[in-house]
Amino acid sequence: MSAFRAKPLLSILAGEQLAPPPIWLMRQAGRYLPEYRELRARAGSFLALCYDPILAAEVTLQPVRRFQLDAAILFADILLVPQALGADVRFEEGEGPRLAPVTSVHGLRRLNAHGMLDRLAPVFETVRRVRAELPAKVALIGFAGAPWTVATYMIAGRATPDQKDAKLRAYQDPGFVAALIADLTAATISYLCAQADAGAEVLQLFDTWAGGLAEPLLEPLVFAPTREIVAALKRRHPKVPIIGFPRGIGLHLPAYARTTRVDAVGLATGDDVRLAAALIPRDVVLQGCLDPLALIVGGKTLQNAVERLLADMGDRPFVFNLGHGILPETPPEHVAELVRMIRNGDPK
Ligand code: CP3
Repeated sequence: MSAFRAKPLLSILAGEQLAPPPIWLMRQAGRYLPEYRELRARAGSFLALCYDPILAAEVTLQPVRRFQLDAAILFADILLVPQALGADVRFEEGEGPRLAPVTSVHGLRRLNAHGMLDRLAPVFETVRRVRAELPAKVALIGFAGAPWTVATYMIAGRATPDQKDAKLRAYQDPGFVAALIADLTAATISYLCAQADAGAEVLQLFDTWAGGLAEPLLEPLVFAPTREIVAALKRRHPKVPIIGFPRGIGLHLPAYARTTRVDAVGLATGDDVRLAAALIPRDVVLQGCLDPLALIVGGKTLQNAVERLLADMGDRPFVFNLGHGILPETPPEHVAELVRMIRNGDPK
């Protein structure tokens, strides 16, 4: 058996059927863990933590050490890309990200892709460090925000309800938004390629704000850039599987899977799992999508939600995950409980 096959996440993404399913959780490193809060305080700020390869590698490994997860996900943020392109990015305590908004083609000219990979060099160093320290059965996932989701933050300068500001802009100035998406597509390809060069074994594209777009906007803003990124990565890293997470696109999931050619599709909280399992081509692996709120509650609620999800996935190969990131108020013991339920193969 090759080293490749020894990692359950890589096996399932290569098309093997596995029971129990491999498990990892979006935002598995973060504020719900006391050991994270300690290192975050030592780093001084969230961004300082992201750019410190020793601390970022440690934070990446914390949940893998504490729980028997099948993957580590690189500790970084989707907004490091706009920052490396020259946008001013800050994280305000308790308020989330703040960026200097880019709203016109003129504003785009101030961004500069040249030197982007140099500015992101600490992230690639984190990837190398984690890869060197990972247990043999654990895979390393690299990631980026998908162009549309990153664009929404760049346009609005912050999170707005349903990212309405960015959606409006897509109607008001389609030429500008297309140019921004094109720049971000190119940047994302080189960023993810460099992560794979450094040792990332799987790549996930977070398209958190894909849901709620009017149907005619999905092709230019979500499908086309994702298809281009997947095609470019497959040329350079044909063996690195790609997971797409187009959060909340519901009935457009089968079209997303077919047209983008991702290896796996991450389902989100609220998606109809049985319908997705019936309509998404069988050679596309499913991932997801336990409600993060059920993980906060724990106990019987968690057990019921897990049982239901396992039943809804039926006989399809899938990767167990949440339908969105772990919330800060999640008790770490509930994550341990969840991993136990999955590993026992029978949540009862
Ligand atoms: O999943 C992981 O464990 C890997 C690390 C990771 C982070 N952010 C760390 C983080 C990943 C994959 C992300 C992705 C990300 N970042 C997305 C897409 C997925 C999603 O959750 O929707 C988005 C939209 C962002 C942008 C972002 N980063 C926001 C809106 C915020 C503030 C909200 C919040 O929860 O505080 C962040 C901050 C952030 N990114 C934190 C972490 C651990 C919290 C920072 C802190 O320590 O205070």
